[in-house]
Amino acid sequence: MQDFIFEVSTKILFGRDNLKKLSKEIKAHGNKVLICYGGGSVKRSGLYDKIVANLKENNIEYKDLAGIEPNPRIESVKRGIEIVKENNIDFILAVGGGSVIDCAKLVAAGAKIEADPWKIVLGEERVREALPIGAILTIAATGSEMDNLSVISNMDTKQKLAWGSKYVLPKFAIMNPEYTYTVPKYHTAAGSADIMSHTMENYFSLNDGCYMQDRMSEGILKTVINYGPIAYNDPENYEARANLMWSSSWAINGLLGSGKSTAWSVHAMEHELSAYYDITHGVGLAILTPRWLRHVLNDETVEKIATFGKNVFEIEETSDRFEDANKAIDALHKFFKEELNIPMTLKEIGIDETHLREMADATITHNGGNIMGFVELSSEDVYEIFKESL
Ligand code: NZQ
Ligand code: ZN
Repeated sequence: MQDFIFEVSTKILFGRDNLKKLSKEIKAHGNKVLICYGGGSVKRSGLYDKIVANLKENNIEYKDLAGIEPNPRIESVKRGIEIVKENNIDFILAVGGGSVIDCAKLVAAGAKIEADPWKIVLGEERVREALPIGAILTIAATGSEMDNLSVISNMDTKQKLAWGSKYVLPKFAIMNPEYTYTVPKYHTAAGSADIMSHTMENYFSLNDGCYMQDRMSEGILKTVINYGPIAYNDPENYEARANLMWSSSWAINGLLGSGKSTAWSVHAMEHELSAYYDITHGVGLAILTPRWLRHVLNDETVEKIATFGKNVFEIEETSDRFEDANKAIDALHKFFKEELNIPMTLKEIGIDETHLREMADATITHNGGNIMGFVELSSEDVYEIFKESL
């Protein structure tokens, strides 16, 4: 196990009855709030009205940043920064999923600099401070509520890039599983796949002696495999929504990857699909992951993939470890397709051969020139994986 520092200070207010504490939590940090939200689900569900009522009762002023897109765009961030600067906003409240929280994070950091916020995403501008952020989570997926990462798209340059800073870790996250009852089936499935992908990106590494982290990963994977289909078929099942929600936070907050070298290969590939085709993140991950695993299956990785099959999908061991590993990959594919109804080919989500080569090259370039980790991937490997996913 490598040396590491684990520090996640986000205060979690989990369960049915914590929204009433919202203003108190905000007042610990600020008094003038920018409420960030997406395309309208928070208005339709009535959550927005409850939030505003709580702020008004407590004399907290607010402005809105509405209409943040799934795969949030730099233009929304710039709109937010303008509102913050014009109104002396001192607290950012993100109400939504990863897209809203990620956008809020760059607003919070971008409001503290004069330069173009896109420079932060490119790593050309250093983040030295940010406005405090709080999150009210409405979909279990990215874990953005409890991590310091943000992923922003620039459709003009066909870039979807991740950046991070300890200054944008949310101060608190209100997580009420009931708020996720209205998440459509497609996004419930995509969110479940995203949680599993984060867990697998942390899990698939070699010889690092992180036994504890791996058993925890298997526990989270089993949790999502158990409760994802229940939430999909019975959207108001509290137990299922609660287990998915809590899994989302722990899959990516640093715990599972502590002490390890991880490459996040599938995320690197998926971000290019989203940058070119604006697809749903979790669906892209579900399509790519089994193809990636099949592509990297070799003498070195076979044991880990077979162990995954045994411990996560309860596949009986045989004397042929390659057979066991292949069964594990089949089980994962089948789970996404049959239990979560995810379209499992790129063609089904509107992606054909046209940009595969370009996207494969961009995957490597945007990842600093290589993808190390479980198995090192070249641009040719990524191209092959994309082709196998068609
Ligand atoms: O925009 P609204 O109307 O709110 O609708 C959203 C959106 O259409 C809807 N939704 C959310 N909560 C709902 C709801 N609909 C009904 N009821 C509710 N309670 O769901 C749709 C998807 O929302 P979005 O926020 O885009 O989903 P998600 O949380 O999956 O976020 C995806 C984004 O996060 C990035 C992804 O790349 C993508 O841009 N990621 C962020 C990460 C991070 N910060 O750590 C890591 C991830 O790997 C990921 O890359
Ligand atoms: Zn993800």
